[in-house]
Amino acid sequence: MIVIVGGGIIGLAIGWELAKRGVPSTIVERGEAGRGASWAAAGMLPPHAEVEPAEERLLPLLLAGRALWPAYAAELTAATGIDVDYRTDGALLVALDRDDAAQLKFRHDLQRRHGLTVEWLSGGEARQLEPYLSRAVTAAVFSPDDHCVDNRAVVVALAAAYRGAGGVVREHTEVVGLRIERGRAVGVDVAVGVAGRDAGDGRDVETLAADAVVVAAGAWSRGLPGLPEIARPPVRPVKGQMLALRMDAAAPIVTRMIWAPDAYLVPRGDGRLLVGATVEEHGFDTTLTAGGIRGLLEGAWEAVPGCDELPLIETWAGLRPTSRDDAPILGPTAVEGLWLATGHHRNGVLLAPITGALIAEGLVTGGMPEAGRGFGVERFG
Ligand code: FAD
Ligand code: GLY
Repeated sequence: MIVIVGGGIIGLAIGWELAKRGVPSTIVERGEAGRGASWAAAGMLPPHAEVEPAEERLLPLLLAGRALWPAYAAELTAATGIDVDYRTDGALLVALDRDDAAQLKFRHDLQRRHGLTVEWLSGGEARQLEPYLSRAVTAAVFSPDDHCVDNRAVVVALAAAYRGAGGVVREHTEVVGLRIERGRAVGVDVAVGVAGRDAGDGRDVETLAADAVVVAAGAWSRGLPGLPEIARPPVRPVKGQMLALRMDAAAPIVTRMIWAPDAYLVPRGDGRLLVGATVEEHGFDTTLTAGGIRGLLEGAWEAVPGCDELPLIETWAGLRPTSRDDAPILGPTAVEGLWLATGHHRNGVLLAPITGALIAEGLVTGGMPEAGRGFGVERFG
């Protein structure tokens, strides 16, 4: 029996892969499954669009993760009947002035050095792809292999697929302690009921025995009670504010992901247009701010002025689980039977299928597969 702490996209993806391999597991989630960062995300799967110079070590994992997505989305839909709105229209990265164009050129060169498929476009060529782009767009990079998915539909589908394959999700159940005996993780203590600050709040506490425990508690992973220092992942919350506008689904003014200098825009099949996201170091605070939302609206308007006419239908904020080097923390720890799958930062949706496969395979075989090596917590010393 494997206990997975956290029912976000990462915990659910691991659970589903274990279930497919015939390994029993229980996901313990203190709220509702999939309602953390995984609900807040934009669902972009863009290793090409987001590649940064410092992330070159991470790029092979991002690309391998991206390669799994088309089949993964189809498998999820086949297993559950849930359409996860997998879109293959690509992404446009746009420049609005000379400085932006210089930065875009730098990114384009970096992408080409990595052998990525990207095309440099003039402003006019970009507007042929997206006619509602501002006249101020002077240059763009088209990245056809950047796809996106409806992350909210994905977590709903994953929970259904996992349960359908025999997995157990215990919602409104908080892990309040990790049980370690003779240097080995043997289970967790959980408090059942509406999540509170600790187990001394009147909730019943019970122990779930486990052969292995996987910590997939997102931005909260570092603070999990009972986690020994040697296995504590250096993960912190990085806040992202976002909003959604409503387009006419039959005549959307944006049809593919657009990365502008101050906002990204992500269309959904149902007519929603997501606009994101701030990147803020404010601890566990998820307050929406006037400045955050104003900045996103301005950033969207600069790239696509027609956004101004659209109804604003939702605003929200989530907490990215961010590690010290922005790469995920995956694999076994110095405590036998204690595994980590956290720290996915801006790429947790993209990396969910590969994380699920690597961790499940690792648990079954007793060691991380080659593609996941080098991402363990020990790299932080
Ligand atoms: P979460 O989804 O946060 O799940 C962790 C779960 O653990 C939570 O449900 C929590 O309740 C539970 N938990 C915590 N402590 C306990 C406990 N003690 N006991 C029981 N349960 C516990 N990634 C992409 O790939 N593409 C994107 O476009 C993208 N856009 C983003 C936009 C925003 C605004 C944000 C905030 C993130 C975005 N991300 C994106 C990043 C992505 O959302 C995260 O990397 C990913 O969701 C992390 O998944 P997770 O399962 O680790 O965390
Ligand atoms: N990957 C997009 C974000 O984290 O905002």
